[in-house]
Amino acid sequence: MPLELVQGDIAAQDVCAVVTAANRELAGGGGVDGVIHRAAGPELLRAIREIGGTPTGTAVITPAFGLSARGVRHVIHAVGPIWRGGTQDEPELLAGAYRRSLELAAQAGCRSVAFPAISTGVYGYPLPSAAEVTLRTITAFLADHPDLHVRVVLFDAGTLNVFRRAWQRLEA
Ligand code: APR
Repeated sequence: MPLELVQGDIAAQDVCAVVTAANRELAGGGGVDGVIHRAAGPELLRAIREIGGTPTGTAVITPAFGLSARGVRHVIHAVGPIWRGGTQDEPELLAGAYRRSLELAAQAGCRSVAFPAISTGVYGYPLPSAAEVTLRTITAFLADHPDLHVRVVLFDAGTLNVFRRAWQRLEA
């Protein structure tokens, strides 16, 4: 199956590219970003500081540094929107963060990529809406890139269920 939803830890995935939920300053952070940076080591922070920043709704790619021990080759730093009530183009910006990450993974020659649920933590994006945008954007991209395998890694069972229900709605 080209798209799978699993419960787990984003830093423990054996894929070509792992996506982290970054901020536009590329300053490093907590949540998913903290987990990825701890696993990849300090070189990852140095690499994104050199890039310096990227707008909301985009992403940048770096080597995976310490995560390469797991076979991961790239870390993609995606910047989702902060939820501001849904009136500030949040769905388009969230879709952009996923789409750009997928493009970067495909351009890097990856056949597998793992995503966390971008913007659904500190950035406060309501889960059911985020799940719908996420799955719509990924399935649209996969229609043109059938060789890519995408895994969405949800941290807990409740989040996984919200994503599963959103997927059922999209397929209905
Ligand atoms: N594996 C998978 N998912 C995880 C993990 C993990 N180890 N840890 C947390 N999550 C989940 C959270 O439960 C949430 O659903 O990842 C989702 C995204 O949460 P955040 O990491 O807070 O990301 P986001 O909402 O996009 O906020 C980004 O937080 O850490 C800072 O620098 C980052 O400023 C940026 C902001």
